[in-house]
Parts: sequence; structure tokens; C-alpha cells
Amino acid sequence: MTDDGALLLAVETSCDETAAALVTRDGAIRSSIVSSQAALHARYGGVVPEVASRRHLELVAPVVEEALAEAGATLDDVDTVAVTQGPGLVGALLVGLSFAKALAWARELPLVPVDHLHGHVASLFLAPDPLEPPFACLLASGGHTQVLAVRDHDRVERLGTTLDDAAGEAFDKGARLLGLGYPGGAAIDRLAADGDADAYAFPVARVAGLDFSFSGLKTALLYAVRDLDEAELDRRRADLAASYQRAIVHALVARAEEAIERTGLDRIAVVGGVAANSELRSALPGAVFAPLALCTDNAAMIASAARFVPSVPPPGYLGLDAYSSAT
Ligand code: KG4
Ligand code: ZN
Repeated sequence: MTDDGALLLAVETSCDETAAALVTRDGAIRSSIVSSQAALHARYGGVVPEVASRRHLELVAPVVEEALAEAGATLDDVDTVAVTQGPGLVGALLVGLSFAKALAWARELPLVPVDHLHGHVASLFLAPDPLEPPFACLLASGGHTQVLAVRDHDRVERLGTTLDDAAGEAFDKGARLLGLGYPGGAAIDRLAADGDADAYAFPVARVAGLDFSFSGLKTALLYAVRDLDEAELDRRRADLAASYQRAIVHALVARAEEAIERTGLDRIAVVGGVAANSELRSALPGAVFAPLALCTDNAAMIASAARFVPSVPPPGYLGLDAYSSAT
């Protein structure tokens, strides 16, 4: 098929999404398949690492096959394999990493190990509207909340991070307290539309520099919910969701604006699962948001990042290990 050059095949298994994508060197997405395990983990109220690893094992090959089929491609069209190396759940990461190593080795292809957070930033570099660095970036996901200065496609400087929970984690824990199930960010987003955001004054922790803290907010919601009986909670649930969401959004917006001031960079971009939040999107009208389909975990963003990372020729990559925490 490809008359415009070979494709990158990327695999992403860092948490509870099994994803594969085919992307051109120019950043055009040929296919992007995401198989979410959310329903599987919902009954536990969060991701169970061992369950996630086992499910990735079952899904990774069919998801890659589906990505090839949707792109109308075969492995002959692939000249590079990319894979998320970390941070994430190590067991989950190892499934994707082992699969990618085996595939690259069998096909005698180079492998590109990609940092998951670099991947979220690189969701902005894809066609048809790639964002050119430099810019300031707010990365808010289930596992991370950071303020970054993106100097170049492969050069990202961290200016601030969360001292406790990530913004997405705050959404998920809040949703759980409100009885909305897992994952909760989108559920709070929907319910908040029917609520009064001024009903409750939830505190937004002020910490030094460009760091964040969300754990106090979660405790404040816990106390508010504990004071209500079931009927009252039913009546106030939308107000609680709206007020809680407002507090998280305020914290994120304040840091995004400070990032612009401190860095002198004139543009701010927002990536990661929480970038899908509708109130955040309207609270930062001047910001560039990752396309909705690329906010939550996917492999197209991993392929995108891989375009700017040196590939490792065989057999050098066989010894690569996964890592759990941000480097
Ligand atoms: O980037 P992502 O898929 O996974 C990580 O790398 O962590 O982000 C998932 C997070 C979850 O915490 C989920 O609740 C949150 O993104 N999320 C949202 C929305 N959609 C997803 N949070 C707020 N509003 C949304 N609409
Ligand atoms: Zn992510």
C-alpha cells in the first residue's frame, strides 16, 4: 500500500488501555485502536494491576492486527516499532514492551522506547494541525499532573508537578465518593453541567512554585458527602460535582497562567485525559487542547513521540526494561 513511505507501529499498555496505532513519518494517523479495560476494572473502583496485565496479554495481538487492518497495511509496511517504556504499571508495560521487542526482532526492525509523558505531549505534534514548539504545556492525566516547557519536539523541561494526587486521580476519587463509578472524570464532567458550581466552596491548595496539591480537596469532598443522608446526597450530587470540578479546574487554570508568565512562552497547550474536561476547555479559551480522541491514552501519541527519539537497532533493545515512575 504505502506509496508515501513506511509506517511506525506503536504499542501502548501502560495502564488499562491496550492500544496500537500506525502513523506516518509526517505524523498522519493511519489507524489508532484503543481497547479500554475500564469496564473490567469498574467493579473494583480502580485499576487492578494484575488484572490489567492479564488483559493486555489477551488483547495486544488482536489490537495490533486491528490497527494493521484498519490502515489497510501489513507488517511489510512497518519500518519501526515504538512502544511505551514507562512510567506506568510495570506488569502492564512489560506486556507491551515484550510484544514490541518480539515483533521488532522477528522482523529485524529497530525499536523506539517512548516515555509515556513525552507521548502525551506529542499528541500535539500529529497531523493535520501539528503544534510547533516552543510552548508551555499542562499535562493532566490519571497518573500525572505537570507543568512543562516544551522547548523542542524532543526537549521537555518539567517546571512543576503534583505533590500528592494527579488531577485525574482527584476526579476519579471524587467520582467514587459521589457514587459515580470508575473512571469518574467524564461522569463528573457530565453531572456538573446540571449543578451549581458555587454551591460549595471547596479549597484549592496553594503550594509553592508551579506545583499542585489535590489531596485536601478530596478530603473536603469526603466531609461534605459524609454530612448528607442518602436523599440529600441525591439532591446535591450535581452541585457537589460542579463545585468539586470547579476547584480542580481553578487550580489547573491558575498554574497554566503562571506557566505563561514565568516562562515567557506565549502559548499554552493542554494534554492528557483531563484535557477532555469541558469546563477546563472553556476556562482556557486561548489554549491549544489535544484533540479529544488523543487526550486519553492511545498509541498514536506514542508513535508521534517516537518520530523524535533515536531508534535502537537490533539486538540492543532486547535488554530494555520498563520503568514505573517519571524519570
Ligand atoms: O491520560 P489518561 O488516559 O491516563 C493516564 O495516563 O493516567 O487519563 C485518564 C484520566 C482519568 O483519571 C479520567 O477520569 C480523566 O483522565 N478524564 C477526565 C475526563 N475524561 C477523562 N477528567 C475530567 N473530565 C473529563 N471529561
Ligand atoms: Zn496517559
